[in-house]
Amino acid sequence: MANRTKRIATMFAITMVGTSASLAGGPVDEKLVIDGEVEIMTRVPAPEGHPFDELISGWHYRTEETRDLEADSFQNPGMLYVERGEEIWNTVDGAAGKSCASCHEDSEEFLKGLGASYPKWNEDAGKPFNIELQINQCREQNMQAEPYKFDAADQKALTTYIKHQSLGMPMKVDLSEGEMQTWWDKGKELYYTRTGQLNLSCATCHENYNGNYIRADHLSQGNVNGFPTYRLKQADLVSLHNRFRGCIRDTRAAFPAAFSDELMALEVYVTWRGSGLGIETPAVRQ
Ligand code: HEC
Ligand code: HEC
Repeated sequence: MANRTKRIATMFAITMVGTSASLAGGPVDEKLVIDGEVEIMTRVPAPEGHPFDELISGWHYRTEETRDLEADSFQNPGMLYVERGEEIWNTVDGAAGKSCASCHEDSEEFLKGLGASYPKWNEDAGKPFNIELQINQCREQNMQAEPYKFDAADQKALTTYIKHQSLGMPMKVDLSEGEMQTWWDKGKELYYTRTGQLNLSCATCHENYNGNYIRADHLSQGNVNGFPTYRLKQADLVSLHNRFRGCIRDTRAAFPAAFSDELMALEVYVTWRGSGLGIETPAVRQ
């Protein structure tokens, strides 16, 4: 055990700055209030059966500059995608001559809280849907338009717009619908399975090493309440499945396709791990 810890620490130059009991240099003790108006619940008690006592948003692990960017919607570069998403929502596309707004008329009422309740069981598809999959279903079946390709700029913008309408609302996932519990189980198994040449699992980094530094990165709990997220390093908006794939690639494992059963199961489970955290979309990260 000591050996493997040393091996991982060496490979990744993980700096031990504390244990999970005493997070020296750990998450900052600040409050996230967007534009001085919307207070986001960034620290909440964990649901029953969770490995942590407290759930903490990734915002607490970032530098002051990065945290400030998120707290000011005029400075948050992700807000441009929200504006673009609103445009798409109202634009007619496809052979049916409809926009999203044509059918979902009272948009504000329809969208409030919606993004905070995904992923959600989709009976027709027989699997959980995230916002991206639901958008594609409406485009294909209701607009007679082409589904978006994974990570198309418009897919990210529309997803960000929809999630942003739940800003500050608690993230929740309903496991009682359909077969959601089975997908949760599968997601949990994947979360703890070590993969890749480095033999690491999600839990190795986000549970065991949470609060430590890996290269220049401060390891958070790996919560999903800010997605899609604006990443300064990429100077772009990053979707959740892109982030998952990046994390898996870092273990030097082959990474599954976006929206594959594996990544959907992970999305169900990891969303549950952040239950109750306020939606931050678009969050700003390094
Ligand atoms: C022709 C009408 C029509 C258009 C246009 C349309 N939708 Fe839908 N939408 C529906 C119907 C009907 C449902 C419910 C059944 C289903 O899931 O298809 C729905 C369901 C949804 C849901 C799920 C709601 C929930 O309770 O979880 C979302 C989100 C959504 N649509 C978003 C969109 C977006 C985004 C667009 C534009 C890209 C769009 N819709 C275009 C008819 C439409
Ligand atoms: C080698 C270590 C490592 C592994 C293994 C790893 N991650 Fe990450 N992950 C990171 C780092 C570093 C970051 C960026 C800093 C942070 O938020 O922890 C990150 C960020 C994230 C974020 C974004 C957090 C936020 O607040 O924006 C999510 C979500 C995430 N990881 C999920 C996962 C999942 C799911 C797995 C397993 C498939 C996984 N990670 C495996 C290192 C790892």
